[in-house]
Amino acid sequence: MASQQLHGSRGDAPGYNERNAHPEATALATQLREKISARTLKIGIIGLGYVGLPLAVEFGQRGIQVLGFDVDAAKTQAINRGDNYIQDVDSDVLRQLVRDNLLDATDDFSRLAGCDVLYICVPTPFTPNKEPDIQYIMSATGNIAAHMQLGQLVILKSTTFPNTTEGHVLPQLENEQRKVGRNFFLAFSPERIDPGNQRFNTGNTPVVVGGVTQLCTKLAAEVNELIIAEVVTVSNPKVAEMSKLLENIFRSVNIALVNELAQLCDRMGGINVWEAIEAASTKPFGFMPFFPGPGIGGHCILIDPYYLSWAARKDDFVTNFITLAAEVNESMPFYVRDMITREIARQPVTTIEARILLLGVAFKRDVDDLRHSPALKVIELLDEDDIPNINYFDPYVPSIRIHGRTIDSLPAIDPDVLKGYDVCVITTDHSSFDYDMIAANSNVVIDTRNACRNVPEADRAKVVLLGDGK
Ligand SMILES: NC(=O)c1ccc[n+]([C@@H]2O[C@H](COP(=O)([O-])OP(=O)(O)OC[C@H]3O[C@@H](n4cnc5c(N)ncnc54)[C@H](O)[C@@H]3O)[C@@H](O)[C@H]2O)c1
Repeated sequence: MASQQLHGSRGDAPGYNERNAHPEATALATQLREKISARTLKIGIIGLGYVGLPLAVEFGQRGIQVLGFDVDAAKTQAINRGDNYIQDVDSDVLRQLVRDNLLDATDDFSRLAGCDVLYICVPTPFTPNKEPDIQYIMSATGNIAAHMQLGQLVILKSTTFPNTTEGHVLPQLENEQRKVGRNFFLAFSPERIDPGNQRFNTGNTPVVVGGVTQLCTKLAAEVNELIIAEVVTVSNPKVAEMSKLLENIFRSVNIALVNELAQLCDRMGGINVWEAIEAASTKPFGFMPFFPGPGIGGHCILIDPYYLSWAARKDDFVTNFITLAAEVNESMPFYVRDMITREIARQPVTTIEARILLLGVAFKRDVDDLRHSPALKVIELLDEDDIPNINYFDPYVPSIRIHGRTIDSLPAIDPDVLKGYDVCVITTDHSSFDYDMIAANSNVVIDTRNACRNVPEADRAKVVLLGDGK
């Protein structure tokens, strides 16, 4: 376990060392460090979703006691029964941790008092007007404040705009008796988990930490090092908050660029954007491939740009670049809807009669996460266009809700099922799909992911590929 320091902490004089820290803080830090080295510290994790539960399991697997908190009693009860609900978590491991009393979950927030370290892993959605909604962070912080014990270390992991930790969380935690860096500690350490990623997981993905004081940074780094191979410390929470938004906005902007190029290739004709990207990728430096698609989804890349744009406005700064990227990405489901209606017009059916099958509705390959999935938006748009016969198949998603109506996934697809549809649309390229079978037996396939790139030549003519310039 290694730690890399990029800078010293704001507020700490140059040449700061821990001897300069407040004596009360030094004593409390010593107590926490003793527990860290003996692995007797108790970790509290607030929010047991895609981020919180894998984090809890990671600590538990190293023999460290974890108490999870969630407002959703169904989740806490499931954990206490040993039932897993997160795809990336190994169900046997979770069950064993519960049996060994290393993992316990509760909706009783008074038990926060019994934890040494508290991670906040709650959602950070946007409002209907696409403004940051940090109510879950504030409610988790309120619960911590109500039960806080001196010496506790609070680590915010939820993605959020710069100055949330110091400007919103800190004022709720401090009072006459409680001062950060003196008798409690606070840091921001963003999550980088990539659900479904087989290569990078919590343990082998470096993590960034920025504490309110240097001692806060160091303690948060030392706790993270219990489970993460490389910890990178930065000067303050705002740098860490900005670094997380930068990572996600980097993806949003680059995906928007190739989404725009896909549309341009279709307009120009004769240029396949996927081939152009493959060609550009042969450059061994200064280029990194991104791929077009039906739009972006999930809880991060779609939302996070709006967090920064909103924060920028308060400083009279307009983030044109970031906003334009969001606009291009959010236009993609509309573009795919138009591709579908164009293909329906080519068939001997009316839109009322046309039978449409979407393959994959999760927001990305091989996950069950539906949040802000572009496939849902495509279905909503088709529904609004009075195209009533829409089905979908997704082995990860048993049912979806569209305009208040539940649609169940087909149980399976086979040649007979596929032949019953006028248009098939590959919206999510799950690796379990048999693309040769899909192309061979479909009337026409709209491929928004280049998933049919290797289908036999004879079936290629049936594939309408996003951005292929035809
Ligand atoms: N999902 C990802 O891949 C990912 C990756 C990196 C960062 N993040 C960020 O991590 C944060 C959490 O995301 P997630 O995907 O785990 O969300 P999630 O919706 O899967 O889980 C959040 C959990 O918090 C619970 N919760 C809400 N308010 C609470 C409160 N006041 N007290 C206790 N529990 C509460 C919810 O019931 C839910 O179980 C977000 O800020 C997100 O942007 C997510």
